[in-house]
Amino acid sequence: MTVLITGGAGFIGSNFVLDWLGQSEEPLVNLDKLTYAGNLANLGEVRADPRHIFVHGDIGDAPLARSLLERHRPRAIVNFAAESHVDRSILGPAEFIQTNVVGTFTLLEAARAYWTGLPPAEKGAFRFLHVSTDEVYGSLGRADPAFAETTPYAPNSPYAASKASSDHLVRAYHHTYGLPSLTTNCSNNYGPYQFPEKLIPLVILNALAGKALPVYGDGANVRDWLYVADHCRAVRAVLERGRPGEVYNVGGSSEKRNIEVVREICAVLDELRPRGDAQGPYASLIRFVTDRPGHDRRYAIDAAKIRRELGWAPQESFASGLRRTVQWYLDHADWVQGVQSGDYQRWVDLNYGARKQ
Ligand code: NAD
Ligand code: DAU
Repeated sequence: MTVLITGGAGFIGSNFVLDWLGQSEEPLVNLDKLTYAGNLANLGEVRADPRHIFVHGDIGDAPLARSLLERHRPRAIVNFAAESHVDRSILGPAEFIQTNVVGTFTLLEAARAYWTGLPPAEKGAFRFLHVSTDEVYGSLGRADPAFAETTPYAPNSPYAASKASSDHLVRAYHHTYGLPSLTTNCSNNYGPYQFPEKLIPLVILNALAGKALPVYGDGANVRDWLYVADHCRAVRAVLERGRPGEVYNVGGSSEKRNIEVVREICAVLDELRPRGDAQGPYASLIRFVTDRPGHDRRYAIDAAKIRRELGWAPQESFASGLRRTVQWYLDHADWVQGVQSGDYQRWVDLNYGARKQ
C-alpha cells in the first residue's frame, strides 16, 4: 500500500506528509516541482525516512506521472500541487493556467490510464483526491449564507478561475469515466511552514523586523480561518471515508476581518516578544495600502456535510492556532532566513512597491 502526494513540499502538503508519516506506516511518494513555494527544509524531519520517497518533478510531465504510477502502484493520489497565491496570479496568471489547469488535467489522464488497468478490487478502492479552495465560489455579501457544496461557482481571480477549472475537470472525470475522485474546498489555512507571502506569516515576520504591516483596502474583507492540521485531518477523513464523486467543504467557522487578524497577531507578539517602550506596540506598524484588484469581500464555509457524514470538526480555535503559529515562527529563525532569499525580496518589491499608503 502506498499513496502518491503532489505538492508535498509546500505549506499544506508538507504538513500533510509529516502528519501522515507520524501516524501511519504506509509509505508515500511525494511529487513536487520545488517552485519558490516548495521547500525541502519543510521535510527535514523525514529526510532519512524510507517511507518518504521524494520525486522532484512536475504534475504536468505526463511520462513522469505515468511511470510513477506504474512503478509505485498507489492506492490513492492526493493532489495538493498548485500555484496558490492570489496576488501572484494577478501579476502573472500564465503559470496558474499551466499548473492548476493543464497540470491537473495531465495528472487526471495518467490516473485514468492507471486506474483503468487495475484489477477490480483495487479499482474499486482507488481514490483521486483533489485539494481545492473556497475561492471558486466567489465573494459573499455580509448577510449571505456561507458557501455550501451546492453554491454555484463564480471565481473572481485568475487563481480562483484556474482552481475552478481543475475542479470541473475532476468532476467530469468522475461523471464520464467513473474515476473515483473526491474534491475538498477549504477556507484559508494558517500554521507552520506557510510561505511569508500570505497574510499571517507576512504580518508576523514584518512585525518582528519592524516593517510596515500592509492591510489591503479598508481591512474589512473577511476570511474563514482554519489551522492547517485541521485541514490535514479533513483530507485524511475524506480520503478514507468520503463518497467517490462527492465534494466536501472544509472550514473553521472562524470568520475574521483582516484588520482583526492583524491586530490579534500584534497582541500575541506584544506578549511573546515585546518591543521596547521607545518603539511602542506592534500595532503601530499597521498601514492601510492600495487594495488588491478584484478583492473578494467575504468567504465563509458551511462545513455541515463533512461534519455530518465524516464526523470531522476542527480541533483548534483561532486564538489557540494563532498563538501556536506565532510561537512556531519565533522558534524557527533558520527556516525563516532560508525562505527570505533574494527571490522573496523581489516579490515583496513587485507586490508592495507601487501600493500607496
Ligand atoms: P503552496 O504554494 O504553499 O505549495 C504548493 C506546492 O506545490 C509547492 O511545494 C510547489 O513546489 C508545488 N508545485 C507547484 N507547481 C507544481 C507542479 N507543476 N508540479 C508539482 N508540484 C508543484 O500551496 P498551499 O498553500 O500548500 O496549497 C496547497 C493546495 O491547497 C493548493 O492546491 C491550494 O489551492 C489549496 N488550498 C490552499 C489553501 C490555503 O489557505 N493555503 C486553502 C484552500 C486550498
Ligand atoms: O480561501 C482559501 C485561499 O486562501 C487559498 O485558496 C489560497 O491559496 C490562499 O492563498 C488564501 O487566499 P487569500 O487571498 O485569502 O490569502 P492571503 O493570505 O493572500 O490574504 C488573506 C487576506 O488578507 C485577503 O483578504 C487579502 C489580505 N491581505 C493579504 C496580504 C498578502 C492584506 O490585507 N495584506 C497583505 O499583504
